[in-house]
Amino acid sequence: MAKSRVSFLCGNCGAVHPKWLGKCPECGGWNTLERFVETPVAGAVGAALGGDGGAARAGAEMPRPRPLPDVSTDAVARIPTGIGELDRVLGGGIVPGSVVLLGGEPGIGKSTLLLQALLSLARADRTALYATSEESPQQIKLRAERLDSATLPDPSRLLLYADSLLDRMLEHAVRLKPSLLAVDSIQLVARHDVDGAPGSVVQLRRCCHDLVSFAKRSGCAVVLVGHVTKDGLLSGPKMLEHMVDVVLSFEGDRHHLHRVVRATKNRFGSTQEVGLFEMTGVGLVEVDDSRLASAQMAEPRPGSATAPTLAGSRVMLAEIQALAASGFLGNAKRKTSGVDASRVGMLVAVLEKHGGLRLADQDIYVASAGGLRLSEPAVDLGVALAIAGAHLRRALPAHAAVVGEISLAGDLRPVRQIEQRVEAVRRRGVRTLLLPAGQLQSAPGISLVPIRRVSDAIDQLLAPAMKSDRS
Ligand code: TYD
Ligand code: MG
Repeated sequence: MAKSRVSFLCGNCGAVHPKWLGKCPECGGWNTLERFVETPVAGAVGAALGGDGGAARAGAEMPRPRPLPDVSTDAVARIPTGIGELDRVLGGGIVPGSVVLLGGEPGIGKSTLLLQALLSLARADRTALYATSEESPQQIKLRAERLDSATLPDPSRLLLYADSLLDRMLEHAVRLKPSLLAVDSIQLVARHDVDGAPGSVVQLRRCCHDLVSFAKRSGCAVVLVGHVTKDGLLSGPKMLEHMVDVVLSFEGDRHHLHRVVRATKNRFGSTQEVGLFEMTGVGLVEVDDSRLASAQMAEPRPGSATAPTLAGSRVMLAEIQALAASGFLGNAKRKTSGVDASRVGMLVAVLEKHGGLRLADQDIYVASAGGLRLSEPAVDLGVALAIAGAHLRRALPAHAAVVGEISLAGDLRPVRQIEQRVEAVRRRGVRTLLLPAGQLQSAPGISLVPIRRVSDAIDQLLAPAMKSDRS
C-alpha cells in the first residue's frame, strides 16, 4: 500500500501546502491551515476514482490527449428529472457524469425536492441511489409516502442507503452503477482515513473530490445537498463550488409559500433561469408563473404596486407592498423583506428630495408579497410608488402596473426587454403600464403612460383618475 502523506489545507481557499504556515500564501488568511493525512484508496473504489495511489492507477486506464473534433458529445444527452421547473434551471436535465450541488437553508425543502426528483427518475426506469447521512430510511419512506403514496416506483429502482462513510457509499455506487447518486448532505459524510470531523474543511474537500472523480469516471450523475451558513452562503470552502459543475440555490422564506431554485453556476446551461415551487401538504408543486399575477391588481390598495420583473426568460408580476407609519425623527425605521434594504433607503431619499414627500419621521416597511426576492432595479418605480402611495394614502388605479429604474437624480431610466414585459403584463390583465418615457410609444391592448421623473409618477398617483382605458 502506498504511503500516507501529511499536508496542510487552507480552510479559506482550499489551497494545499506541504508544511504548516501561519498565513496562507494563496489567500492571505491567517491561521487557516489545517493538518490532514491523505491515504490513497485501493481496490474497485480507487480505480473508479482514477486512483490517487500507484496501485490503483496501475489498474485504471490512462487517459490520452485527443483532438477536439474527435471528442464525442453524444454522452451529453441529459437525464430529465421529470420536474419541469428543476429541468428548466438545470438546462434540460442532469448531465450524466456531472455533479450538482444543491444548497439552501434548513427546512427549505432540499430533501423534499431531491426525493421528488429521485422518485420521478425511478418511475422513468432509472436506478437512483439515495445516500442519506442525515435521516433514517424510515424518515425518507414516510416522506415519500406523504409525497405520492399512490405511485411508489418499482422497488428496485430507488435504493436508500443510510451511512455517513463515503468509502462505503462509493463502494455501493460502484457496484450498483446507478444513473444518479444523491448525497444528503455533503456536510455529514466523511472518510475514515481522513482526519477531522464530518463537515470540516479537510473532509469536505476530500469527499467532494472523490465524488467528482467518481462522477467523471463512471458517468453517474451526482447530486450533493449542501448546508448554507446564516449569511446564505454554502458552508465549507469556496472550492466546493469550483469543483462541481452546477450550483443550485434553493431560496425563499421558510414561512412563505413560494420557493425559488436558481443556478448560481451552470457549466451546461444558463444561470438566468429560475424554477418556481410552492410547498404544499404533498410536497413541492411547480408554479405556473401566470398564477403569480397579483390578486390585488383588481382592487388596489394604497401602498401596493405591481411590477413586471424578469427572472430568466420569463416575466413575473411582483406585488410590492409598503407601509408608512409615524415614527421618530432621526430614528425612523426602514425594514424590508424580499427587497434590498439599501435600495429602499436610496429610493426614500429620492422621494424626499425629488418627489416632495416628507418621510424623515416615517417608519417605512417594504415587502415583496409571497416571499419573491426582487433584485432588479426595474422594480424601483414599483417600490417608490408603493411607499409614496402608503404615505399619501393613494392607490394606483385598478389593473395598473409600473416599471422603471430610478436614478439618484430622480429620473426614470430605461429597463431591458421592455417589449417582453409589456406583452407579459398585458396577457395577465394589466390595462395600464407606467414606464420610463421614451422607451416604447404604444402597444396593442394596453395603455402606456410615459414617466420622465419620479415627481411625474407621484402626480399620476394623485390624479383623480388615470385614463386607464385609452386603447
Ligand atoms: P425538508 O425537505 O426536509 O427540508 P431540508 O432538507 O431543506 O432541510 O423539509 C422542508 C419542510 O417542508 C419541512 O419543514 C416540512 C415541510 N413539508 C411540507 O410542508 N410538505 C411536504 O409534503 C413535505 C415532505 C415537507
Ligand atoms: Mg434535508
